[in-house]
Amino acid sequence: MERKVFSLKYRPKTFDEICVQEVVVKTLKNAILSNKIHNAYLFSGPRGTGKTTTARIFAKALNCEKGMTINPCNQCQICKEIDNSNSLDVIEIDGASNRGIDEVRELREKARFNPIKGRFKVYIIDEVHMLTTEAFNALLKILEEPPPYVKFIFATTNPTKVPKTIISRCQRFDFRKATVNEIVLRLKEIAKKENLLLEEDAYYQIAKRADGAIRDAEVILEQVSVFASQPIKGEDVEKLLGVVPEEMIFEYFDELKKADIKDVLRFLVKIEQEGRDPFEFYKSIVQAFRTILLVKNELPKKALGITDEEYQKFSQIGNLFSDQEIYEIISILIGYEKLLKYTSFPEIVLENLSLSLLKYFKLKKEMGVISLGEIYTLSPKIAGILEDVFIKEVDDTIHIYYPPLKGKLTILQEHEEEIKEILKKILNKDIKIKFIQREIKEEKKISEIFDKTFEGFEEL
Ligand SMILES: Nc1ncnc2c1ncn2[C@@H]1O[C@H](COP(=O)(O)OP(=O)(O)O)[C@@H](O)[C@H]1O
Ligand SMILES: [Mg+2]
Ligand SMILES: [Zn+2]
Repeated sequence: MERKVFSLKYRPKTFDEICVQEVVVKTLKNAILSNKIHNAYLFSGPRGTGKTTTARIFAKALNCEKGMTINPCNQCQICKEIDNSNSLDVIEIDGASNRGIDEVRELREKARFNPIKGRFKVYIIDEVHMLTTEAFNALLKILEEPPPYVKFIFATTNPTKVPKTIISRCQRFDFRKATVNEIVLRLKEIAKKENLLLEEDAYYQIAKRADGAIRDAEVILEQVSVFASQPIKGEDVEKLLGVVPEEMIFEYFDELKKADIKDVLRFLVKIEQEGRDPFEFYKSIVQAFRTILLVKNELPKKALGITDEEYQKFSQIGNLFSDQEIYEIISILIGYEKLLKYTSFPEIVLENLSLSLLKYFKLKKEMGVISLGEIYTLSPKIAGILEDVFIKEVDDTIHIYYPPLKGKLTILQEHEEEIKEILKKILNKDIKIKFIQREIKEEKKISEIFDKTFEGFEEL
């Protein structure tokens, strides 16, 4: 049989299996019993609390072949198709990746056709707050006059970002976080079915880390059951979530290198969902930068206790920056230590910290800079001279943009041959070089790049 992860294997299939959200369940059941179905519902609440699950059960309740019911049969073709997400009448749309007007227009076109098998066409739009303004406006048009057989269920973790005009047309349900005790109960049920033995403390450790999200708790339970021997202890959970694997740090750097704020934030949400401790993650980042500095300065692998492959990766990142820049980065990082330790919002602090790092990576990417680090290894003197220039390759000519400082050009010209030699070595080909003075305007542009880093953050 196909192996399913706990959070899918134990996804509730009936209203009565949903825990924690009693109010929501009761109200939805009443609506079905009294045949008062609204056109649109808004399910808001933190991730992993049952929004998608409830939306699917509700869709089954509306469409089950046995008739509209609070106990969908789960046996008929319609129920099965909905459970497997391949029903043609129940359409799940991820609002985060289908944000635009075109997607909503297409939805509107299709909504004009009757349901194929069921009584209703149910649109479940997840993370609906991510839609663009135009998309919301288009959506509003259908909401104003929906065909009688069309029902909407919007799910969101961020209801404040959903326009009031939309909210006012929905019946709203707030999903709440589960308490530690509720999560422990749920975990115990699953452990029993999976024949897992856990000490009481282990259950509580997991539940605390899950921060109200039942899914997160299930994910942690599964991970710890793979890695620890039974009976699973509280320490096992701590060990699992405390130690940040090196791979994860490299993945983080890869996201930073792409210099797209959304990728970085997505990555942070992912590690949060895995129940990782933000402070542990932070410590690993600081350690990593220290290792980068040491690798850059040719400390032997052995002394650092890392593998060849890791050495390779650390030195690649090191090559992006000068020693000076790495010192700067480390001191920025150290500044976050106390903040992270004492804040009630460690995830947010970690995000802020990542944004600070992103600036460095982004600048490197946007300016197309040949790494000063590389130049430094060949000639510290030339690296010193080039510290405040930007180097860009345009066809076979290397443009060296120098700041409007008196005497800068003379120094550069005096060392032209040496500079050329070094760049030739790095690029591994014959080149011409050209010195270009940056204008005051361009100096401004650089600061704009910094500002631009923060664009898009608003939308998220
Ligand atoms: N209220 C709940 N009762 C039981 N299990 C839940 C509940 N909320 C979440 N889960 C578990 O977490 C998984 C993901 O839930 P999901 O409905 O996708 O959450 P959301 O859409 O709110 O992020 C489910 O498959 C289930 O295993
Ligand atoms: Mg969901
Ligand atoms: Zn059915």
